[in-house]
Amino acid sequence: MPHSNLAIRYNYHLDEIKPNNILTFNQEISSIPDIVKLTLGEPDFNVPEIGKQAAIASIENNDSHYAPGTGSEALRKAIADFLKVRYQLTYSPDQEIVVTIGATEAIYASLNALLNPGDKVLIPTPTFPLYETVVRMLGGVPINLDTSSNNFVLSPAMVKAALDEYGPAVKAVILNYPSNPTGVTYSASDLQALAEVLAQSKAVVIADEIYSELLYDGQHVSIATYLPEQTLVLNGASKSHAMTGYRIGFIAGPTEIMQKVSLVHNLMITSPSDPAMAAAVPCFGTETGRQASVEMRAAYQIRRDYMVEELTNLGFTVAKPNGAFYIFAQIPHQYGSDDVQFARDLAQEAQVATIPGSFFGPGGEGYLRMSYATSLDDLKTAISRIQNFLN
Ligand SMILES: Cc1ncc(COP(=O)(O)O)c(C=O)c1O
Repeated sequence: MPHSNLAIRYNYHLDEIKPNNILTFNQEISSIPDIVKLTLGEPDFNVPEIGKQAAIASIENNDSHYAPGTGSEALRKAIADFLKVRYQLTYSPDQEIVVTIGATEAIYASLNALLNPGDKVLIPTPTFPLYETVVRMLGGVPINLDTSSNNFVLSPAMVKAALDEYGPAVKAVILNYPSNPTGVTYSASDLQALAEVLAQSKAVVIADEIYSELLYDGQHVSIATYLPEQTLVLNGASKSHAMTGYRIGFIAGPTEIMQKVSLVHNLMITSPSDPAMAAAVPCFGTETGRQASVEMRAAYQIRRDYMVEELTNLGFTVAKPNGAFYIFAQIPHQYGSDDVQFARDLAQEAQVATIPGSFFGPGGEGYLRMSYATSLDDLKTAISRIQNFLN
């Protein structure tokens, strides 16, 4: 490669993008021999058979051409069906649904369609760090709202205070429930109360509901039920159908916003991959496909119950996790509140890998995130090692 003296002038927003410290930390501790990893947000199940067969058939049938930019008609219909059957939400497959490359692209496309430099985005924390990164990349200003003193749920009063302070500069509010990293979710009445406050503004709610099928007690409700004209519902097959590598997500929202989102989406990806979309069609569009999530959920629930009980017995305070596959556990007081040091010691001395809570933003300090998307045997080993470590 010839050496160039040219000083390349990069997009200056990149200066604000820090390396993903979850991945860096995970890499740092992965080389420890015999480590049990509770770090990754990745299902340990296989893709449901009905999805695999559909992907194989798609390849055999030479389904290998550019699909419509918004995704195949069959998949948009299946998604509309899924949203109706599971959450009583009505969206037009032709006008109001876009198939994305995972929820990741859905987050980027939604924010890119909405934000101008300087626009503010309300982000309840602790949360999935990608939101803040994307907002910064687009020149927006993340406004972190620490929810730790309110059981990790954003209250209407917090939203109202932020709307009063920043006014129309608030372009979007991000809600993620069930939540990564806490597993906490919002009840129907929580959402209704938030919707009442948000209806007084022009802010768009980006509702990342990627864990909606992994809810243990009660029924998942979308904020779109109460605020349809101001909400973009983000979801996908990664967590519900253990299809992280297939990269299928989607956005559903009002026609007008979706037209803008589609423009951005088409610039970035043209169209999703045919076999991956084919796999997702029966997963969302048939009862058998939807049932696959129910089976995985039952396994996760056993693990959640085990982890909550054992960690509580060991002196951790656990945020009540009603969904997703994470435990957010406060380190027992006698061990201090330096979660990064505690997680590092736990990895090095006890061979149990967790993620420090402070990596998820304000309110996460003093906590550890533990993923139970791993076998019950591994969880049992982890608990017995944590017990020895504390002793
Ligand atoms: C809250 C949340 N949103 C989005 C994603 C990304 O999902 P996908 O793999 O579909 O891009 C994740 C992945 O961990 C997540 O936890």
